[in-house]
Amino acid sequence: MPKFYLTTPVYYINDVPHIGHAYTTVVADVLARWHRLKGDDVFFLTGLDENSVKTVQAAKERGFDDVQKYSDRMAENWKEVWRALNISNDGFIRTSEERHKKTVKDFFMKVFENGDIYKGEYEGLYCEGCEAFYTEGDLVDGKCPLHKTVPKRVKEENYFFKLSKYQDKILKYIESPDIIQPSSRRSEVISFIKAGLRDTSVSRPNPGWGIPVPVDRDSVIWVWFDALLNYVSGADEKYWPVDLQIVGKDILRFHCIIWPGMLLSAGYKLPRKFLVHGFLTVNGQKISKSLGNAIDPVYIAKKYSSDALRYFLIRDIPLGEDGDFSEEVLVTRLNDELADILGNLVHRVLSFIYTKFNGEVPKPSELNKQDREVISMIESAPSSIGKHIEELNLGAGLREIIKLAKFGNKYFNDSEPWRTIKDDPERCATTLYVCSQLMRSLAIMLVPYLPSTSEKIWKSLGLPGSVHNHKWESAGELALKHGHKIVKPEPLFEKMSNKKLMVKSEEKSQKKQAPSTIKGEDFEKLDIKIGKILEVEHIPKSKKLLKISVDLGGERRTIVAGLAEHYRAEELVGKHVAVVLNMEPVQLMGVKSEGMLLAAEDGEVVSILTIEKSVKPGAKVR
Ligand code: MSP
Repeated sequence: MPKFYLTTPVYYINDVPHIGHAYTTVVADVLARWHRLKGDDVFFLTGLDENSVKTVQAAKERGFDDVQKYSDRMAENWKEVWRALNISNDGFIRTSEERHKKTVKDFFMKVFENGDIYKGEYEGLYCEGCEAFYTEGDLVDGKCPLHKTVPKRVKEENYFFKLSKYQDKILKYIESPDIIQPSSRRSEVISFIKAGLRDTSVSRPNPGWGIPVPVDRDSVIWVWFDALLNYVSGADEKYWPVDLQIVGKDILRFHCIIWPGMLLSAGYKLPRKFLVHGFLTVNGQKISKSLGNAIDPVYIAKKYSSDALRYFLIRDIPLGEDGDFSEEVLVTRLNDELADILGNLVHRVLSFIYTKFNGEVPKPSELNKQDREVISMIESAPSSIGKHIEELNLGAGLREIIKLAKFGNKYFNDSEPWRTIKDDPERCATTLYVCSQLMRSLAIMLVPYLPSTSEKIWKSLGLPGSVHNHKWESAGELALKHGHKIVKPEPLFEKMSNKKLMVKSEEKSQKKQAPSTIKGEDFEKLDIKIGKILEVEHIPKSKKLLKISVDLGGERRTIVAGLAEHYRAEELVGKHVAVVLNMEPVQLMGVKSEGMLLAAEDGEVVSILTIEKSVKPGAKVR
């Protein structure tokens, strides 16, 4: 059984995951599931990068004195997100774990003892967002090109890694064909190396968090040197080297220059391939907290299903290039492709067999040209679709599966089984026999992309066990025997009717009449202040309500708000929100609510009002 080890980056825990992080992980998950179906011994690793100064700052902002407690809380949060998106990772590594710290210390000592780490003074520009040093030449208008912030000038005694010593070897490695996909990224790395590599600082002053340099407790190991080693600490050594590392374009140089340099120094085999993806924007805008467009993938998955989200991400974002997330396009794909093509095909075929053939796969008779055409498509699909996936063209593979389902609908229509059942029952039986084989084949080939839909189709076909345990190649077989009993089919996808959404918001606007004009003194009656959210708890037995404890500068209040379907508890902690304080207290599900949190509502989307600049809790809103 060949092994296949693939990784995502370890994610920073200064915030909750957004749709961009979900993208990296979904791409990795599709590949992991596909390799399992191919029969590989897969190890799929993901995890968290916890030892950054950003973690310390985030913990402080959210009112945690204990950084480890904050990290533990965030780790649960990230794990929950991956569960909601059906991510099938085999390993989960947190860089604050002991097993990781040990690996990092041992590795550091190995490189140190090789003479590849030395002490020196460094003066440079440090971007805390990137956790990296920049030269003036790297900056755009004096700012970090990624975070658009002015980096801090720092002068430090640091430990340096002799990256320059490995320049030629790294270049040779990166020049080997297919090492980085897409190849444009490979060219980018090659020109960077050719411009000359400088030794890189691998320590920072100890902020009381992170992994201390084994030979100097006043310093911690630079978070990138530390984080990259998750790929060693997170998996059994039998999986080494990594077969595929999936990374975003922003972290290309760390992975394709520093990382191989570190491994060469310590005498490890190098990763076999890097898949570099682009960046997601939301409705054309960069994802950013301040723009408030950091879409929560769990919210989308709950609203439309995790398969619909996965479908959109793979179908519409060209892997390797930048792409745009649009909820509207996602709904269109859900309605027009998942429901109208795939769902419709499965439902009409299985319902027909269920009602007209007593739920049994019918016995075929002589095959005509159209039957043979569908059968030959079933037989060749695993190899042609598998080739796309093998070449990391995930979108092309998915589009071909949908094309096959579309063809299935055409075949069903053209064969007119509703007519032949009366005129030519043998013909009708043959059509449905061929269609049922197509259902089975689609179920298997959809496993990597739509893991829960594929299982639903499998179960509706009345097949035993889980579709996830089948072989990819078996999707090309006509394995359903006539007489096999299927199960009463259920619709696969619920269509999202735009009309329904529009009616809903119209109803709402009619309910609340437009306000007549008010005087300034009327507005003055409202006591609105800025509060900082300290704690958030779910109210037992309520799907909608959260109990929120808010610091209003010298006063703490409990507010009950109907936000549970729109925010996760952890996400709210630390946020500065606008609160109406002189509302009459009300008792909701046994909890007294002493105020109202302001939020904007747009159909299904609810967004709390936060502030643009930092002001103290208790600041008056006028
Ligand atoms: N902690 C480092 C990685 C260390 S790996 C040894 C880090 N973390 S991150 O949380 O900022 O980003 C992790 C991954 O998410 C990266 O691959 C990054 O490209 C990806 N994305 C973050 N924002 C993204 C988008 N807007 N779009 C697509 N992917 C994005 O970097």
